[in-house]
Amino acid sequence: MSAAPKSRWAEDDAETEALLEQKRREKEERKRAKAEKQRQEEEAQKLLAQKRNEEAAKGSPQGSTNGDAGRPSKRRRLSNEPEPHPDIIDEKPISLLRFPAPEWGPCRHVDNFERLNHIEEGSYGLVSRAKELATGEIVALKRLKMENSLDGFPITGLREIQTLLESRHTNIVRLREVVMGNAMDDVYLVMDFLEHDLKTLLDDMREPFLPSETKTLLLQIISATEFLHSHWIMHRDLKTSNLLMNNRGEIKLADFGMARYYGDPPPKLTQLVVTLWYRSPELLLGAEKYGPEIDMWSIGCIFGELLTKEPLFQGKNEVDQLSKIFALTGPPTTQTWPSFRSLPNAKSLRLPATAPPVADSNNIPLLPRSNFPYLTTAGLTLLSHLLSLNPAKRPDAATCLMHPYFREDPKPKAKEMFPTFPSKAGMEKRRRRETPEAPKRGEEAPRLDFANVFGGGVGEGMGTGGEAGAGFALKFG
Ligand SMILES: Nc1ncnc2c1ncn2[C@@H]1O[C@H](COP(=O)(O)OP(=O)(O)O)[C@@H](O)[C@H]1O
Ligand SMILES: [Mg+2]
Repeated sequence: MSAAPKSRWAEDDAETEALLEQKRREKEERKRAKAEKQRQEEEAQKLLAQKRNEEAAKGSPQGSTNGDAGRPSKRRRLSNEPEPHPDIIDEKPISLLRFPAPEWGPCRHVDNFERLNHIEEGSYGLVSRAKELATGEIVALKRLKMENSLDGFPITGLREIQTLLESRHTNIVRLREVVMGNAMDDVYLVMDFLEHDLKTLLDDMREPFLPSETKTLLLQIISATEFLHSHWIMHRDLKTSNLLMNNRGEIKLADFGMARYYGDPPPKLTQLVVTLWYRSPELLLGAEKYGPEIDMWSIGCIFGELLTKEPLFQGKNEVDQLSKIFALTGPPTTQTWPSFRSLPNAKSLRLPATAPPVADSNNIPLLPRSNFPYLTTAGLTLLSHLLSLNPAKRPDAATCLMHPYFREDPKPKAKEMFPTFPSKAGMEKRRRRETPEAPKRGEEAPRLDFANVFGGGVGEGMGTGGEAGAGFALKFG
């Protein structure tokens, strides 16, 4: 009889055969080790059972014949908590701490709410005032936008829900729950309803808010932002239409559709964020890495808008926007913003040789007083710092809250003393003025050529149609 045929490969390659042999040995070894472990475990189990039996026999009452043999005379201690002291007779039962566990369950249907009226007329039609049928409570229902979501639930919607849920703060709108319609892409946020948004209110007011009222509003906006930033959330779309207000002088920050978590150092992020009029110069110049300072810039714009009732920089396109900003702040210099030249869109920027603007002791240029005649020096300093071109020079939210502007006279007005206004969102239809919208997710940030604009000529190749700039006297180099 011939021996069993060897593997063709083994014949060919002695090295392979040795390897296979080693593998076999290792496998054998593992099998043995496993069997040994099992044997040891069984032995340990046997010993344990034996010990228990012995203990049970010892603990049984002497001479017991009533079949209770084996039952311990006293409750056996199951934990190693200390024995109660014999003197303590009236020992209170220890109550366990209970924590609410998040409940997972199906969303309720939107039919639990009766829609009363659209809050937004025309352009979106996404936010409505509604009544919860069971309780009669008035809420706001916001239908999530599902465009650009061919590959599932839109990331913006997820971020909006996640960041809003985490942001429990008196100055941030409360998300009550998420409800569904009949289709998978019919998702609504149920929020507390507020009578106004600041933009509509400012449009309808004949005079701007009083200085004391401006302070109360601004403090609340900054408090909400401070909360977000301390939780590593950037809002990325701060503007007056995203600031809700009730008839008790309270502000609630809303619209977290652009919000996201950030880190330190900041990750590479999309540049196309923040509605144009509130967008910071570093974003306009194409910065890919940016941080919460972009929100502080927007707050500067909102501050200016509260003072004058008009959006501060109403650019027609990115280039015009930057031009309008420089017209107020003066152009950046290597002293005031050393790194601006390294930003992608700054390469083509030609700046005029102008006298450097008046700067304060922190080398931050002060805005011209004539633009804000009713603002105190402390107020002008805070505004100038928030609108510092150099993001590193902008104060963070926590610092702003401590600013002398809020402590000097007139003091911030008590919220209860605020005037009330008729609520357009309540029932009446309203017309909105044309204002730019927040950028859409997935849009490409335009490559901008700033060289063509500041001379006043019609720019070419600009993402938004090549309109001329603000007419600020910047010249080609
Ligand atoms: N909770 C709310 N209460 C009252 N009005 C609201 C509420 N939420 C949003 N609105 C109104 O709807 C508008 C659009 O809502 P927003 O969340 O900003 O959505 P969008 O992403 O479409 O901008 C706001 O400017 C405001 O006028
Ligand atoms: Mg909005």
